[in-house]
Order: sequence, then C-alpha cells, then structure tokens
Amino acid sequence: MKITLVKKIKEDGKECKKCLQVTERLRAGDELRFIDKIVYADMRDPDSVGLRLAKEHNIDIAPFFIVENEGTASIYKTYMELKRKVLNKGKEPEKKKTSKDFDIERLNNEFEAKTPQELLEWGLKEFHPCIALAWSGAEDVAVVDMLVKINPKARIFTLDTGRLNPETYDLIDRVRERYGIDIEVIFPDAAEVEKMVREHGVNLFYQSVENRKLCCNIRKVQPLKRMLSTLDAWITGLRRDQAVTRTVLKKIEVDENFGGIIKLNPLADWSHKDVWDYIHKNNVPYNELHDRGYPSIGCAPCSRSVKPGEDIRAGRWWWEFPEGRECGLHVKSK
Ligand code: ADX
Ligand code: SF4
Repeated sequence: MKITLVKKIKEDGKECKKCLQVTERLRAGDELRFIDKIVYADMRDPDSVGLRLAKEHNIDIAPFFIVENEGTASIYKTYMELKRKVLNKGKEPEKKKTSKDFDIERLNNEFEAKTPQELLEWGLKEFHPCIALAWSGAEDVAVVDMLVKINPKARIFTLDTGRLNPETYDLIDRVRERYGIDIEVIFPDAAEVEKMVREHGVNLFYQSVENRKLCCNIRKVQPLKRMLSTLDAWITGLRRDQAVTRTVLKKIEVDENFGGIIKLNPLADWSHKDVWDYIHKNNVPYNELHDRGYPSIGCAPCSRSVKPGEDIRAGRWWWEFPEGRECGLHVKSK
C-alpha cells in the first residue's frame, strides 16, 4: 500500500491552512510515517504534480489522499476518513477525549494536594500524544524538566512571536540540547503580521491597549488556537501567585476559550520560590534574563526588569493597568 498526500500551494505561494492543519494532525498522532509521498498542487503551475493528480482523479479540494493498493487507487478527502478507513482499519477508532469524559470538580479535589508531577503523569496517561506543554521560555522551564523526566517523548511547544528576547531563543536551543528533545516552535501567520505592521507600525503595542491586544492576538493567540485545535489537552506553567488575574486558577480547567479542551496547570499552587528551588535543585537550564531582574519574561518590547520588592509581573506591559495585563492566552477559562 502506498499513501500520497496532495497539498495545495496558493497563488500567493503559501501552503493552504487546511493542508498545514492536516500535517499537524498527522504529526501529532505520529502518523506522518505512514505517508509515503507528499506532492503539491501549486496554483501557480498547472503542470505541478498535485494539480495533475487532482485533474486525473477529478478532485477540486485540498488536501486529499491517494491510497494505492494492489493496482487500484482510492481517494480520501479528509484526514478523518483516511484515519478511519485506512490508518485505523481493523482497530477500534481512536477515542478523542473531551472534558465530558471527566468529572473536573472531583479531579480538582483529588489533585489539589498532589504534586505537579502526579498531575503531569495523569495528563500524559490520559491524553498523550494529544497533550502538549505550552512553554514560554521563562521559569516554566521547571515543567519541561518534570515532563521530560516522566516521558522523554512528551510534547512541548513554544509560540515564537517573532519578538522574543535573544536570551529566550538561546534557552530554547539549550533546552533542546540538554534534554535531547524536539521543541515544536509555532509561528504566527506571516500575512497577518505583515498587514498589522503595515497598518499600525512595528511597535504598535505602545500606542493603545487595543493595538497591544491586536498584536498579542496575531502573534500569540491565533497561533495557539491553531496548535490547540490539534490537541485534546494542554499544559501551562500558570501559577496563582503570578497576578491578580490568576488567584482563582484551578489545576484542571475546561478551556472554553479554545474549544473546551482540558487545561492542566500543574504549578497552580506553587510559589515563585518553589519554582526557583526546583530549578536550582535540579540544575535546570534557565533564561539568563532572570539573573538580570526579570522575574517574568514575555516578548522583548513588552517585558522589562523590576526593582527588588516590586510585583513579579510589574515589568510586563508596564504601561498598562495590572487588571488588564493578560494577552489572551489565558482568559475566559472556567
Ligand atoms: S502571558 O499570558 O502573560 O504571556 P505568562 O508569561 O505569564 O503568560 O506565562 C504563563 C503561561 O502561558 C506559560 O507558563 C506558558 O504555559 C504559557 N505561555 C506564555 N507565553 C508563551 C509562549 N510564547 N509560548 C508558549 N506558551 C506560552
Ligand atoms: Fe506583541 Fe507585546 Fe503581545 Fe508580544 S507581548 S505579542 S510583542 S503586544
């Protein structure tokens, strides 16, 4: 059996969004290895292999799959169809877990007194490989260390906004090397960033809260949404002691902001000191900016160092009121 995936390149030279999503789903399920060949239907080139195949099989959507078996070719127009009829043939269909499969209140009662590692173990057991840690490149590196020690194949992603500090990029590579792991680096949509910057300037965030939120939305929230659409659960490094906006944080939440997927906050009840004790005790590599007065680190233009005794998030979007200082990754969760 031979499986060919036909993807589309649009007139502007970019790969179509659905094609990118399908590739991510295949990767998430460790199924890319079943695809023998990927070819492109390039809208700028009528002779491209993909366009010729689409014409030959009378298909006008992308992506699609051609499965060749014993001299016959079958077409599958969606990932789910391919999964059900080809990849999972003879197996029970893979169960996609949702928040409805769990009693969240009971789980919170159970895990409130447990360690971060116990919650991570539970999360990996229930959801891996459809669970991943959102790692910001700051002190949440403690969770990277915990996760990799539980399962070296646990998935970790970071949202590269394009405006991170050099020290954060440096840490991403140090972590990759130290643990021998893959960090999934997620980028914003280039066309959306170009449009925003053309209309409002590169440093638009200083002009108004509205512009700042627009930038966070395009550079962080939308890429996160894309990533989470491929997962059943995600893990964060959020803590109750970080901000006035986070004091009621639960260890297990249903993230209504992102399609109702499960959100695990294993460090919810840890203090800043607990995290740093862990980092030092376990010799975890950390962002150099922490030694230069940055307790909290986000994008370079929106984070600065704080004075001793100042609030730990005082350096984040310092020109705004504390109550509104969230970027949209963590609002509206229940
Ligand atoms: S933010 O909403 O104000 O930017 P903060 O920096 O406190 O968030 O980080 C809280 C958690 O959000 C991190 O532990 C991480 O799980 C997630 N997070 C924040 N920024 C990123 C990023 N750039 N990439 C991946 N996850 C992130
Ligand atoms: Fe843009 Fe600043 Fe938000 Fe980063 S933190 S996405 S630079 S507004």
